[in-house]
Amino acid sequence: MEDKSCSVQLQGGSRGREIAPSAGLHKSLESWPSPWILAPSTGQRLDWEVVFGRKAPVVLDLGAGEGSFSLAYSVRHPGKNIMAVERKAERARKAASRAQRLGLDHVKVLHCDIGYFLRCFVPPSSIWEIHLLFPDPWPKRRHAKRRLITPAFVSDVVLALLPGGFVRFVTDQAFYFEQAVEHFGRQKELQPEKEEVGSFPPSKFETIFLAQGLPVYRAIWRKIGGVLEQELPCALSGISVR
Ligand SMILES: C[S@@+](CC[C@H](N)C(=O)[O-])C[C@H]1O[C@@H](n2cnc3c(N)ncnc32)[C@H](O)[C@@H]1O
Repeated sequence: MEDKSCSVQLQGGSRGREIAPSAGLHKSLESWPSPWILAPSTGQRLDWEVVFGRKAPVVLDLGAGEGSFSLAYSVRHPGKNIMAVERKAERARKAASRAQRLGLDHVKVLHCDIGYFLRCFVPPSSIWEIHLLFPDPWPKRRHAKRRLITPAFVSDVVLALLPGGFVRFVTDQAFYFEQAVEHFGRQKELQPEKEEVGSFPPSKFETIFLAQGLPVYRAIWRKIGGVLEQELPCALSGISVR
């Protein structure tokens, strides 16, 4: 069933409020560099094959900042389609400019709120990987409602994932890690998995925290069913669900 809030045009705001690209913003983005994509009209799910111009496993980097992870990961995985989502326009613009400079056509950047993006733009069971790298922890109790990882958000993540796909969460905040483990751990469709050292390039924030000798907490949960990555055909239409 279509989420009613998807037909409402949301705009402006930061600090936990949702934004989606408005008509005015579309106009201002027209001169922004490829591979920017403009959000479809509200309530319309993205067709990944149209967005990327090919069929390949789709990877989401949610809260991508200037795209440090998306760009490094896309260089390692030319066979995956990478979508970076960031709500700060300047950061999103930088990510897109860098992708363009490096000729990474399989990276797209969307200036949009993560929650809105997942609920309104992502077709169910269409995503192979979701990376949540250092989402703002909002440690003060009065700001807790601004945190990204909530039971509702986790449900949207599970819905978006293909069976066999995974969500990865990395943070420097022990309390936020515990909360995430609790919320993701409640999902019967997810199974925790160990992250192999060196499997993923560090994001900008990860590099900063590790250089300072600070702890970094990480976890992966895989959606039950589906295929193994090594069996994953480039054409997702070939995926069979166990
Ligand atoms: C702490 S930074 C981490 C950036 C990057 N993931 C990294 O690890 O280097 C968090 C980023 O998430 C973005 N962000 C936070 N909440 C968001 C939301 N609801 N929708 C989209 N982006 C969001 C912020 O603007 C910021 O760029």
